[in-house]
Amino acid sequence: MPELPNKPVQVRPSYNVICKEVAQRIAQLVLKKPDAVLGLATGSTPIRVYAELVRLHREEGLDFSHVTTFNLDEYFPLSATAPQSYHRFMREHLFDHINCQNFHILEGWPRGDEQIQADCRRYEEMIEQAGGLDLQLLGIGRTGHIGFNEPGSPRDARTRLVTLDYVTRADAAADFFGLENVPVRAITMGIGTIIEAREIILIASGQHKADIVQQALEGKITSKVPASFLREHPHVTFYLDEAASSLLTEYAKPWRAPDADFSDFDLRRRALIAVSQELDKPLAKITTQDLRLSGSAKLSHAVPSLEAVIQEVERDLQSRVSDKANMPVNKNVFCLSPHPDDDVICCGATLIKIAGDNKVTVAYGVNGSMAVRDKDVLALLRSRHSRLVSYIEENAPPGKSFEDIFDEVRQFIFERENHEPDSPLLTDLKRLVREGEAADACRKMGAKPNFLNLPFYNTGEIAKNPIGQADVDIMLRALREAQPDLVLLTGELVDPHGTHEMCGAAFNQASEMYLKEGGKPFDRWYYRGAWDEYLVWEGDYFSIFNKELMERKIGLILDHISQLDPLFPGTRDPREFYERARDRNRANARQLQQLGVLPPSRSFNPIYAEVFQVNPGD
Ligand code: F6R
Repeated sequence: MPELPNKPVQVRPSYNVICKEVAQRIAQLVLKKPDAVLGLATGSTPIRVYAELVRLHREEGLDFSHVTTFNLDEYFPLSATAPQSYHRFMREHLFDHINCQNFHILEGWPRGDEQIQADCRRYEEMIEQAGGLDLQLLGIGRTGHIGFNEPGSPRDARTRLVTLDYVTRADAAADFFGLENVPVRAITMGIGTIIEAREIILIASGQHKADIVQQALEGKITSKVPASFLREHPHVTFYLDEAASSLLTEYAKPWRAPDADFSDFDLRRRALIAVSQELDKPLAKITTQDLRLSGSAKLSHAVPSLEAVIQEVERDLQSRVSDKANMPVNKNVFCLSPHPDDDVICCGATLIKIAGDNKVTVAYGVNGSMAVRDKDVLALLRSRHSRLVSYIEENAPPGKSFEDIFDEVRQFIFERENHEPDSPLLTDLKRLVREGEAADACRKMGAKPNFLNLPFYNTGEIAKNPIGQADVDIMLRALREAQPDLVLLTGELVDPHGTHEMCGAAFNQASEMYLKEGGKPFDRWYYRGAWDEYLVWEGDYFSIFNKELMERKIGLILDHISQLDPLFPGTRDPREFYERARDRNRANARQLQQLGVLPPSRSFNPIYAEVFQVNPGD
């Protein structure tokens, strides 16, 4: 049986690889001990572990009939049948598909404090009677919570009713169709309960977890970061993908490793950029003494002349900010925007620049209808918005007028049960709202929109279908039509969660087919996303622009009126999308100015940068 890896932190190239490995670990445990007791988690993190366990059960006969499971937590109050309940989650992802009867999940139905306390005590007793947890699977929240033990939870806490942190609720807002619907409380196993498990596996994937992972693994062991207590456990493994591990010293500062190989130009470049940023000194002014001060003395020993290395790095960065060296001319450019506004939020300025000399198509992956508020649709119907009126008139059943349909939509909105998904007509109207906004933005930047409306998104619920042949076929048709020389991919296509990755997967499959059938090869530029930028050392091309172009970019973002004060803001950040994009693009340029690669600018005439990776992995 594979033993626990002897290093508590295990970094793997992708989320998928982690999930397969963790499922194998669980399978081996169950094979060795058929009546194993498992502690299970919910959320996006364990989904593919469960998918793999289901596969192992179906295809390899993995037997769960004697296994007992205890889940970590449940929202309170919430009925077990609510779409967001962890009861439903566990059935849908695992228990409906395997032969495990002996599973336990904390109950979220409304009841008084005393009853809850008694139920929590009973849960603890049941775990004890089962012989304790053999293996506890965990995710980590952006607050550092494990289970729902939020910052401040004591190390010896037992199963109990808790109040959720704002960040946790904001992260769950999409599942609940808005922050206001997310329960304020939850019932969770305590840290004390979790830490008594004989083995613990925590999985974290994605850039959005990097910061809290770093705190949990390298910060103080403190109740401010509950996951940090896990480091005291003798048999814990943290499985991280590359994005989640990216802020750990070993991965964030590889030039400090004892075996750092400075014959590698990328490492020299990365080290010098970091020293320059750390000491807030332009590259040209870095001295051997500075390298020593910032713990990078090895670099100066490894190279014959520091000056020559600095010049080499400066020349390299200069080539990365040059439009002449990077910008396409007379080419077919295809931009994939997962949602209808990722294109302009990410690289609106570069798209404007490119559209002047090239033929640009923006392909919008999904229609984004989930993020449109009911009241915005009502307001547009009331003001007789021409796009919506013609759609309704063209599609109304015989004998029904626009007014009749307007009444029906209004009635549906006001009478629907909490959480009932949009009707097909309301979904269509929301789709039209977003398509209209994107079409306006395209017109202004001189691009042609192509609304792919990929079917995987159209479930009416937050949970999406897997990518299917229909999605790939639509993407393939779009590629054939555009015959791109260059493809711009926006929005964290490597993030293992959600719509962006699904669009990325459809694109990857379609482009493979496209190339196989003889389509001409194209370059790929990646833009990290609407939330994050590539770091300076990660960027291959910095598209620099001035204030006037930033104002045009902001104009394009503001064309997405339905996304002002967004329904799914995603983070605790209260700024509007255009403010975040502006600030991030300014910060990119400022870093290049600090390095001495770009000249300083006056505050009344700032410069900005959008950052791309070019053909990563080639
Ligand atoms: C789930 C749970 C939580 C999640 C955490 C990460 O049962 O208790 O601690 O593991 O919030 O959630 P995801 O995986 O959705 O990022």
